[in-house]
Formats: sequence, structure tokens, C-alpha cells
Amino acid sequence: MDIRFDDRVAIVTGAGNGLGREYALELARRGARVVVNDLGGSGSGHGQSATAADRVVDEIRAAGGEAVASHDSVATRAGGAAIVAAALDNWGRVDICINNAGFLRNNRFEDLTDKQIDAILDVHLKGAFYVGQPAYRAMRRGGYGRMLFTASASGVFGHAWQANYGAAKSGLVGLSNVVALEGSAYGIQSNVLLPTADSRLAAEMDPGFMEIPAFADAVRNADFAASEGRVVLPFNVPLALYLVSEACSATHGLYSSNSGRYARVRICAVEGWVAPAGTTPPTVEDIGAHFDQIERMENWSEPMTVYDEFGAVARAARAQGVYS
Ligand code: NAI
Repeated sequence: MDIRFDDRVAIVTGAGNGLGREYALELARRGARVVVNDLGGSGSGHGQSATAADRVVDEIRAAGGEAVASHDSVATRAGGAAIVAAALDNWGRVDICINNAGFLRNNRFEDLTDKQIDAILDVHLKGAFYVGQPAYRAMRRGGYGRMLFTASASGVFGHAWQANYGAAKSGLVGLSNVVALEGSAYGIQSNVLLPTADSRLAAEMDPGFMEIPAFADAVRNADFAASEGRVVLPFNVPLALYLVSEACSATHGLYSSNSGRYARVRICAVEGWVAPAGTTPPTVEDIGAHFDQIERMENWSEPMTVYDEFGAVARAARAQGVYS
């Protein structure tokens, strides 16, 4: 059966270019009414222009779809409120919120300036609060919602010269997990996407990170065999749209979209080593002696709450005969 978004109201931030534009166009093609938000800045987040969002709205309308533009910045509380107000004023509800707006300000960790740190945390992490909170309140009123936060493989797995971006993008994982837990009471699901595409954001990346020898080797030795022609915007659209559809029941997840490979990314704890019974803590030397076991990828579990982890500890303790 076709996956449709008729009668759904969607907000897509940063939808004037790149991934956001593709999401907005496809959501509208499938029946959604879309708030196309974009400040219209450059790939490094400088400048501003209304034309980016307006062009996408024109494209949607020309194809018979419904859309309105928002030129507000996600990086301020007032901007976030205005973006959500655009949905509420026009259509009275919010069903889908794709937090996608962003840019890069790369630098060596030790050289990152306050401006570079603040700009990246503001647009990627705080922006997700500024847009996400009013959107969530509207979803809660409607008893239905699909939140998607855009993280990044570079941000979560690691990329040299992106400490600010990595901190912001990894922060979104924790944010989405909590939204998923709280939202479960109100029909709201929340997930995170790690997209990969040769957008202008990727193209404008400063190659200065190649000065780090081990990282430069990783870049030079990377195997792109299955990626030819597939590190492009459209390959990211199907998973993003599935995650914000009614057909999807997954929540509290993190998903990778890379060159046509779609995969769940899991944050797991291995079984590890359980210290001997009793209330005497082990020594530093005990940790050293058991470090291989602490690292071993065996009997892993994926806690969905902090309380799940206590259960995993109890299972490990029983398995290792420390507790019966
Ligand atoms: P892009 O530069 O083509 O699009 C980003 C859009 O966000 C731009 O149109 C820009 O004007 C807008 N924007 C920037 N600051 C804004 C603000 N304060 N308020 C509203 N809009 C704002 O870049 P792309 O590649 O489409 O990136 C979209 C998202 O995907 C970003 O969050 C990026 O970090 C993330 N991402 C991209 C990857 C890639 O390979 N292209 C990889 C992983 C994550």
C-alpha cells in the first residue's frame, strides 16, 4: 500500500536546499501540507535570503501541493515559535517535525572559538529544542506526532575538526531518546537519522582535517566501492519519510542512510565484567586485569531506559555467578 501523508501537517527545517528540500517536496507529493522553513544562508551559515524557502514553496504549489514558507531561524526561541506558528496559523496542527536545518564551522578542537562552538550548538542542538518543543506541544494536543532529528555519521561516529558538530549531533541522540520516552504517552514517536549526501554542506568542508595522520589514512583507505553515484540526496528520502509516516511504529531509534544501505545504529552495552559479590569496590588493578572482558563484544544489550541497564547488570551478575 502507498504510504501517504494526506491531512498531515509537516514542518521541515532547512528545507530551502539539500536534504530538507527533498523531504519537503516528497512529503507534499504524498499529500502533506508543508511548512518549508529556511533562513537562506550559505553552507557555512552566513547570510540570509527569503528566496531559498520561497522557491521550494513555489515548486510544491506548481505541482499542485500545499506549502507555506517560513524564513525564521531555528537558532532562536522566537524563530522556533514562529516556525511552528506558521503550521498552526495555516492548518491548526502539527503532525510531523523534521529537524534538519544546519551548517558547519569546522576547526581543530583546540582552536575552536566560542563563536564557532555557539553557532553550531545553537543551530543543531538548541534549534532542535526551539522548534521541537512547540511542535511537540501541538502534537500532544493532537494525540499524534512523528519527530525526526537529523544527526550525522560524522557527528556521532567521529570526524576530525568537528568537535562542535559532533557534540551537537550526538546531543540530538539523547534528546530524541527522551522525547521518545515522554512522547509514548501521547502517540508521539521520535527517531534520529544519520544521512549521507554530496550536498553543498559536504562540498564546502575544509580539508584541513587531513593534517591528522591516522584520520587522513582512514580517509585515503576508505572503501567507497558500493557508493558510486549513491552518495546523493534522493537516496536519503525514503528512510526519512518512512520514519515520519503513520506506517512506522519505531521510536527511540537511530538510523543510518548511506549509499543505499539503511541500518539501525544501536548504542549497546556488552556483558562486561561484574566485580565479586559484596560492597567492597574493585581496585584499579582489577579493572586492568579484566579490561579485555570489559571490552568484549559478547551478550550485548541495548537499554531503552536507564532502568533497563540495571536489568542487564543483574543478568550479567547471574551469568558470571556473582549473584544468584
Ligand atoms: P544544506 O546546506 O544543503 O541545507 C541546509 C539548510 O539549512 C540550508 O538551506 C540552510 O539555509 C538552512 N539553515 C541553516 N541555518 C538555518 C537556520 N538557523 N534556520 C533555518 N534554516 C537554516 O545541507 P544538507 O547537507 O542538506 O544538511 C541538512 C542536514 O543534514 C544538516 O543538519 C546536516 O548537518 C545534516 N547532515 C548532512 C549530511 C550530508 O552528507 N549532507 C551528513 C550528515 C548530516
